[in-house]
Amino acid sequence: MLIAGNWKMFKGPHETRAFLAGFRPPDDVDVVICPPYVSLAAAVDAGVTVYAQNAHWERDGAYTGEVSAAMLAELGVRGSIIGHSERRQHFCETDETVRLRAEAVLDAGLGVIACLGETEGEREAGATEEVLRRQVAVLPEHERLVIAYEPVWAIGTGRTASPQQAQEAHALIKSLHAAQVLYGGSVKPDNAAELLAQPDVDGALVGGASLDPTSFLAICFAAR
Ligand code: PGA
Repeated sequence: MLIAGNWKMFKGPHETRAFLAGFRPPDDVDVVICPPYVSLAAAVDAGVTVYAQNAHWERDGAYTGEVSAAMLAELGVRGSIIGHSERRQHFCETDETVRLRAEAVLDAGLGVIACLGETEGEREAGATEEVLRRQVAVLPEHERLVIAYEPVWAIGTGRTASPQQAQEAHALIKSLHAAQVLYGGSVKPDNAAELLAQPDVDGALVGGASLDPTSFLAICFAAR
């Protein structure tokens, strides 16, 4: 089981150190923390497994505001989230840039959590399967690449997918790609165990509930 905490644009270095000071996840669960860029070093120093939230596909160059996978590796970061729906919605991320970023991160020797999932409109239009097929198709098969199924309508809304909806989507994704598949979208301490009990759910990508050490630890323990 893999439980990843996506902190989004929350927690500078000071808050990161405070969070991790007493953070003791169970040994038999793989736990990954994904802080903002400025807090990566503080998280690495605390001794946890750290992923970034994005990485550029070039090694270096004139790309103002971007960070490369090689730079992340130099810092002791072990991987990156790629293609989060907030990147796709607000920052023009496309299936093609997701592919470029994922390949570059793998080439740098790091791990990838590649995010995908349908919007509410796509689900209502009966297009979920088509969307997932299209998004999965660009992802390389690699032992260090994990997929996170995150229905966009469930992210930050408190409206989680039902365990059956999650299981159905995960089974489809696994029929298309050999990766482990995490579920993401309003995972909380009170729904984590049921979601994680589904046969094709291999872990969780947790946003809001990863910001508080007590609730994030409760989810980590629910994964045992
Ligand atoms: P949420 O976010 O748990 O707050 O819904 C999940 C994510 O965006 O990865």
